[in-house]
Amino acid sequence: MRRKLAAGNWKMNGLAANLAEVTALVAAHPTPGCEVLICPPATLLAQMNWQKGKHPLAIGGQDCHAKAAGAHTGDISAAMLADAGARFVILGHSERRADHGETNTEVRAKALAARSAGLTAVICVGETEAERDAGTTLAVIGAQLAASVPEGATGADTVVAYEPVWAIGTGRTPTLAQIAEVHGFLRAELAARFGAEGNAFRLLYGGSVKPSNATEIFALADVDGALVGGASLKAADFGAIIAALEAA
Ligand code: PGA
Repeated sequence: MRRKLAAGNWKMNGLAANLAEVTALVAAHPTPGCEVLICPPATLLAQMNWQKGKHPLAIGGQDCHAKAAGAHTGDISAAMLADAGARFVILGHSERRADHGETNTEVRAKALAARSAGLTAVICVGETEAERDAGTTLAVIGAQLAASVPEGATGADTVVAYEPVWAIGTGRTPTLAQIAEVHGFLRAELAARFGAEGNAFRLLYGGSVKPSNATEIFALADVDGALVGGASLKAADFGAIIAALEAA
């Protein structure tokens, strides 16, 4: 049985004052019926770690370097994230792929680093609008999945997030049939590669998830939760998404 996961990606948003949103979220959902993850900017990880032992809220990084340590100014290793209290790390988000030219090969190397540090990697895949219009969505996603998820991955150390690039931060979402098609494809690809373990990977949908559309998305087969950007910044919105996932 896959545990449902509501994951928040704060991106480059959040100062110490915004920790009040986490306090409010925890107060409203003290014993969530699903796993809840927030990936704040790295500067807030240690401060968010005050919840440790008091609340099941998990925290995570938004990226890590592929190396464990060394001369890489400005970068953060998976071990550093774990040391700050992280249990997860988002890898291969389309904003990293676009802004920093991250390739599938680099994402795979980072996933191996995350595994070494004991972190669960949330590996993102997704097509651009041009790729969807060209009818290559499944080919693009299949190639990203095959090259980004390392050999030996398990449902315990890897989560896959389907995030259509054109749906991120736009208020637009695929149709339910399109989401179901991609999630079914991801499940089949994982099963073909990893056998029975392929059923253990949690599959998240991400891209303009809001309280108003969460319930219908979570009702789809093989949608085990969401990776939420903008709507994760406010306790009320993220709390409503958590409630929708609990009810799914
Ligand atoms: P969004 O972002 O919910 O703001 O569309 C999702 C994401 O990029 O993870």
